[in-house]
Amino acid sequence: MIEDDIRRLCREKNAIIMAHYYQRKEIQDVADFIGDSLALAQQAAKTDADIIVMCGVHFMAETAKILCPTKKVLIPDPTAGCSLADSCQAADLAQWKEQHPDYMVVSYVNTSAAVKALTDVVVTSSNALKIVNRLPKEAKILFGPDHNLGNYINSQTGREMELWNGACHVHSRFSVEALIELKKRYPTAPVLAHPECKQVLLNLSDVIGSTQALLNYVRLHPEYKQFIIATESGILHEMQKVCPDVQFIPVPPEMTEGVGCSCNECEYMRQNTLQKLYDCLLHESPEVTVDADIAREAVKPIEKMLEWSK
Ligand code: 13P
Ligand code: SF4
Repeated sequence: MIEDDIRRLCREKNAIIMAHYYQRKEIQDVADFIGDSLALAQQAAKTDADIIVMCGVHFMAETAKILCPTKKVLIPDPTAGCSLADSCQAADLAQWKEQHPDYMVVSYVNTSAAVKALTDVVVTSSNALKIVNRLPKEAKILFGPDHNLGNYINSQTGREMELWNGACHVHSRFSVEALIELKKRYPTAPVLAHPECKQVLLNLSDVIGSTQALLNYVRLHPEYKQFIIATESGILHEMQKVCPDVQFIPVPPEMTEGVGCSCNECEYMRQNTLQKLYDCLLHESPEVTVDADIAREAVKPIEKMLEWSK
């Protein structure tokens, strides 16, 4: 079986496979470590493996490479991008900073290395509230690229950060009408949502958090037998493993005219396959590299985030 060959290559090469919760389930099952964006960065920072295979999207592999410059970081499909990260190019951020000279920059981890290099502190959806709360009260802040997350942080912290107008094409598409219907049909099921969702959807939710936070909530609340889930559907695999007797009901996306797909999958996350994972371990390619000058600047806000998350 290809899974056995993948595990054998990991042993022979002292490689670790890290996977995000939105990966295909067969990749989650073969991985050494599964986590949200923060946990993947933390794990990368402390691993003693020689090779890190990042089964996620490109910015996750880049973050691992920035934290571990001497290690080989591989990604099964290097074209696995992120619509949110793509919405903020470094040159545009540089211009925004020029227009706001006395502001500090807080960037979501879903950004390129070049954007992180222009950033004061990085956040993930796990630690965003904690980190923004640590900044001086009088600090003027530019936050990007996720407008929904930024709006959520402002609402929870009382800050008035200036927000970049980016969004994740998966999370911003969940249907509010469908959620209202599901709440009627399953009145006792808590609604768990990722903060990248639109505010109107978050207002209808009971728990808002990162993929790890939502998973923890499910694990810690055996009194509920049904949950309504508003995040990428890859997380349902681990939720179902942790709570096999619980029903997880995914919120469907809005139907866009002419688009037949009613799934809530991130197609970038699904670009990685078992075959690509095997090939990349075998050939130790594609390797992720980051320009040394960019990495030298980008590591600072990432390390600050890891330090402030403790
Ligand atoms: P998490 O930080 O919750 O893993 O989210 C990452 C992501 O890409 C969400 O779309
Ligand atoms: Fe990016 Fe959205 Fe995919 Fe997450 S789900 S990787 S934010 S496109």
